[in-house]
Amino acid sequence: MEVIIQPDAQAASALAAQRIATVIRQKPSATLGLATGSSPLALYAELIRMHREEDLDFQHVTTFNLDEYLGLSPSHPSSYNAFMWENLFRHINVNPARVFVPSGKVDYCDLGKYCARYEEEIRKAGGIDLQVLGIGGNGHIGFNEPGSSLASRTRIKTLAPQTVEDNRRYFDAHHAVPLHVITMGIGTILEAGELCLLGFGEKKAQAAAAAVEGPLSAFVPASALQLHRKASVYLDEPAAAHLK
Ligand code: F6R
Repeated sequence: MEVIIQPDAQAASALAAQRIATVIRQKPSATLGLATGSSPLALYAELIRMHREEDLDFQHVTTFNLDEYLGLSPSHPSSYNAFMWENLFRHINVNPARVFVPSGKVDYCDLGKYCARYEEEIRKAGGIDLQVLGIGGNGHIGFNEPGSSLASRTRIKTLAPQTVEDNRRYFDAHHAVPLHVITMGIGTILEAGELCLLGFGEKKAQAAAAAVEGPLSAFVPASALQLHRKASVYLDEPAAAHLK
């Protein structure tokens, strides 16, 4: 595992964006795994800048998002689908037919089949070349909360109370944060050719140290990156504060 520490999120995100641009330039039909939340915002802004100013071409790129809230339609303003269109997709030349975000509107009875199909789409696309990840304050990746199996696949998960609190900021006061999500599993994530984890701010310091330097444990899902042969962890100085 490579740990890259920069003074701030901006600088760390610029390096991560350069890595993604290299992957796309080497393989224009690359498949990217993407995350939502605050961590990848500066990364997405830099990819948009590279698209506008440096001809970074997303035309043949395929994307798969990690997760979505169950119960939210793709057009719901707090859905991860809406987040991705707002913060990345509508600013680049990605082909909408090659954009995959799990649907939050799957009938409960069809969930198992739906999740298996999502995995099948990833396989059909040739697998994920590079997966972007954020780290939760409790060490989660995707919405694989502490205790998730390290071999888990795309499935329904219940959010931990802390995650519900952390994500309340994306919902207006009258709308409850959904408690259930669809998320790629840790096993799914580990199959990507390359992992790129972003962790910024002192709130991530404990989780980042546990993931990078602690024992491999299902109680720190991000520690699964220790199993991967090509994982990079991009931290700002506050998030790196607990590293030895
Ligand atoms: C979101 C996701 C989550 C977030 C994590 C950190 O798609 O997979 O694991 O990356 O909760 O969220 P932020 O970046 O908002 O601190």
